[in-house]
Amino acid sequence: MLDSLGYLKRTHRCGELRATDADRDVVLMGWVHRRRDLGQLIFIDLRDRAGIAQAVFNKELHPEAHKRAEELRAEYVVAVEGRVIRRREANSKLATGDIEVVAKNLWILNEARTTPFPIRDKIDANEETRLRYRYLDLRRFDQQRNLRLRHKVILAIRVALDSPKRGFFEIETPMLTRSTPEGARDYLVPSRVHHGKFYALPQSPQIFKQILMISGLDRYFQIARCFRDEDLRADRQPEFTQLDLEMSFATQDGVFKVIEAVMSAVFKQARKTLDARPEEFRIKRPFRRMKYREAIRRYGSDKPDLRFGMELHDVTQLFSGVREVLHIEGSVFAFAAPGAASFSRKQLDELSERAKALDARGLYTIKVTPEGISSPLEKNLGADGVRKIADAVGAKAGDLVLALAAKKQIPGTEAAALIAGQIRLLMAEKLNLIQPGRWEFLWLTGFPLFEWSETDNQWVPAQHPFTGIVEEDLDKLADPAKRGEIRSKGYDLVLNGSELGSGSIRIHQQDIQSRVFAALGLTEEQARQRFGFFLDALSYGTPPHGGIALGLDRVVALLAGEKSIREVIAFPKTTTAQDLMAESPSPVDPAQLDELGIGIKNRTGED
Ligand code: AMO
Repeated sequence: MLDSLGYLKRTHRCGELRATDADRDVVLMGWVHRRRDLGQLIFIDLRDRAGIAQAVFNKELHPEAHKRAEELRAEYVVAVEGRVIRRREANSKLATGDIEVVAKNLWILNEARTTPFPIRDKIDANEETRLRYRYLDLRRFDQQRNLRLRHKVILAIRVALDSPKRGFFEIETPMLTRSTPEGARDYLVPSRVHHGKFYALPQSPQIFKQILMISGLDRYFQIARCFRDEDLRADRQPEFTQLDLEMSFATQDGVFKVIEAVMSAVFKQARKTLDARPEEFRIKRPFRRMKYREAIRRYGSDKPDLRFGMELHDVTQLFSGVREVLHIEGSVFAFAAPGAASFSRKQLDELSERAKALDARGLYTIKVTPEGISSPLEKNLGADGVRKIADAVGAKAGDLVLALAAKKQIPGTEAAALIAGQIRLLMAEKLNLIQPGRWEFLWLTGFPLFEWSETDNQWVPAQHPFTGIVEEDLDKLADPAKRGEIRSKGYDLVLNGSELGSGSIRIHQQDIQSRVFAALGLTEEQARQRFGFFLDALSYGTPPHGGIALGLDRVVALLAGEKSIREVIAFPKTTTAQDLMAESPSPVDPAQLDELGIGIKNRTGED
């Protein structure tokens, strides 16, 4: 029979006990982490959220408790009453290593089956098993550390935004709503009451937060859950969390200032929570700023990683003599990788393969050594031509120059630079150029309003259709030939090569908003049908406003040093959007479907 708690009260968490608690009588409750049976003495590592404490059961001193301790197995839930004593030999690996608890009484509160993987930090269980048994996975300290960090980060955000000088209100917006255009597919929820109609789960609170500004709430924020049916990756989940905010009468600098202050509070909090050294979470303010086009040209990315150099250079001109032979159409971008001249034939072939997979026309390399320069390009460009390229990218002895051209040109951007940017990241990894503990924030501005979508074969909003437009470019809205030239008032926040957030100063005039919808190919009727309520709202005295949303999961994952945001979400989904523990999505009762008036067609379209 299992014991009940009765009036037994826990006095401490296991991991909280210290040398100063010596001689105290305590009651601990937790899980059996490990049991060592030495016959006369049984040692139990008792675990809870705060850590591990050692309890000792001595046959001579407390025979009954000792007898019960013989029954204990890993993950049993127990209560131990006993006295804290100083250990004769401290265990420096445990925070509680100075003490142990001499157990007088033991209650077995629950038993446990053998777990599918051990509950400890470094395990080799695959992620699928971990997610299926997420309740066990979350018992591990590194998972608990991540969730604690997440909690503290959210708390720091709330405190920073609530401060009187900032004055944000946290306001919840609906989950059951209508489609918000953030560029992904919607998750739809059928309405039972309104037959044949659907709610959409919000891809973001975008329209609602703008409406809150129209309502005069002045400054809004929300730790907001967003839902997007899109291809998933390590940094993308179908439901994820944003720190979403909006400010009335805001300038770009005003938004940046708030976010920089919030991030500063978050980093301070992370340092404290993770018990890090003062230099570990230090950030430089104000954050650097760069124009989108400059980022593409210098780093081949709209989220440049500034923790290392290897800047790109446009060497198109230097290739002019060989364009035909090498079938080069667009630009050529190159950079010097320090110390990579020693790369083997095999390593170079691998890089070439990688470049091809990225749709490069070719990867052209030049080895710069103290003895001189060598390159397959020599036969076409001559030693002099090759030397010019190496000089143009500032290559030094020991460097490898990598030059890239693209197979396909993309309107409005530099395809070759984007490929070179990817190879730059790969080289940084191969050459171990990223120093741990470095934080490089960057504001990206000067985005185009529209970008060309290869998949849709049309211009689409680079951010979303509510992004403000640089005044001088307003006239270009009506001219389809000038779509790619219109500059937006959008901005992104980048950290260590990861897109943390995105925002803009918004359109606040109804007529301009209508013109953007028209430029996106919506008829007046379609625009009214989808956004009529919003267009109406804009016409009742909308203040100029702007804001931003940061991917909170990404912020916490970077702080925790995790590669995937799944490690900082309590119940994440797999890359195929499944919850393996709760087994969702799942089939539903036919009666439920009936009530909703829904029939399931199979994939070929038959009933
Ligand atoms: P955006 O769509 O760029 O902007 O999203 C803002 C930030 O949210 C994070 N993010 C994601 N994180 C995890 N999984 C996903 N599937 C995912 N999608 C986006 C990213 C991203 O930078 N309404 C606008 C913001 C605004 O204009 O104020 C918006 O949602 O870190």
